[in-house]
Amino acid sequence: MNPIKKIKTIFREHSLKKDEESFQKEYYKNSVLSYPPRSLTLGISSACNNKCVFCAYHAEDAKNGKSNVQGLNYSISMENFKKIINICYRGRVPHVHICAPGEPFLHKNILEMIDYAIKIYGITSFQTNFHRAVFEKNNYYDEIIKRGRYVKYITTDVLSGDPDEHEALKKGSTYEDVFSTMEKISKHTNILFRVHLILTTYNYKHINNLIDDLHKRKINATLEIVNLHPHNFNQYTSNEAVYTSGNTDIEKALKEASELGKKKGIPVSVPQPFDSHKNPCGSFWTRLQTWPVAGNDPERYHENVIVGGCNAVVIGDLNTLGYFFDYENIMDLWNNEILVDIRKNLLNGVYPDKACVTCQSYMGS
Ligand SMILES: C[S@@+](CC[C@H](N)C(=O)[O-])C[C@H]1O[C@@H](n2cnc3c(N)ncnc32)[C@H](O)[C@@H]1O
Repeated sequence: MNPIKKIKTIFREHSLKKDEESFQKEYYKNSVLSYPPRSLTLGISSACNNKCVFCAYHAEDAKNGKSNVQGLNYSISMENFKKIINICYRGRVPHVHICAPGEPFLHKNILEMIDYAIKIYGITSFQTNFHRAVFEKNNYYDEIIKRGRYVKYITTDVLSGDPDEHEALKKGSTYEDVFSTMEKISKHTNILFRVHLILTTYNYKHINNLIDDLHKRKINATLEIVNLHPHNFNQYTSNEAVYTSGNTDIEKALKEASELGKKKGIPVSVPQPFDSHKNPCGSFWTRLQTWPVAGNDPERYHENVIVGGCNAVVIGDLNTLGYFFDYENIMDLWNNEILVDIRKNLLNGVYPDKACVTCQSYMGS
């Protein structure tokens, strides 16, 4: 490495460490923050081959005004993708995750985007559903394997260890395709697969099978079991579908899954019951996401900023925290009037939207 580059790298690492220390000090204490967001999830396009029953963008049941994000079409250009990555890197956002309200690998520039993120950050991560037709047509298997050293992790949904149950919830996905792709990539790389299972009363019975399958197929994976955002547009997204404290069957299933995970070398993280309200909403101190919401300028869907696809966004009125390109640097966006006001209110127990009462992180009065 040339000496100037080396000095720059040391300086950056030092600054990143300082940012992390400031985060620890200022989290849920300050409304104006001295550190940049801990991560940005970059939503690259809306097109999808799945119609997941819980998805606020693509579920059939989310139509007819039941979700503020349903059917919003857009696709980010390579130029704008690069601009966002550059602003994040310059602003010391430690990590940018490539994701989408749709399927990232349906974007024609996905490989170019992965390569650009690697060029700037040295390493990247992305989400995909491993849709077989698209992967075969473009030989994305080998393209991912080629980039294996530079891919920190891949996130993907597997909603049950029972293929039929997975396929009924993640409509358009095939359990075997997802597993055989992870298996294939694992044979040639050390990429970590962060497998997401959205927990509901409909899909907790076969988690052990999922862990066994990951182990048997030698997939380097973690299983992240997360609570559902109950958007309430069908039975699967209803308040009755979430994991609550009285549900001893789910509690038992989660305990068994954690134990089996330990035995099989697959780390498993489990959520608290939805109604335990253990932690207040910390998203406004940690992360940003580009994702379109109804009410945004359709020309600017690709640069609309939120913190995540929570109920404040999907069924409430929180449709923007600003447009990315209105700001020259990330700190101006991160400390804009909207975000600072939200943090100030949260510090007084006042949540940003009326829909926040439906969230597990609601701890307002
Ligand atoms: C828009 S999605 C899907 C991206 C990609 N096409 C895929 O299938 O993996 C991004 C993430 O949001 C999660 N998600 C979507 N709806 C959700 C809900 N109602 N509750 C919790 N997580 C949800 C999904 O499980 C997924 O991990």
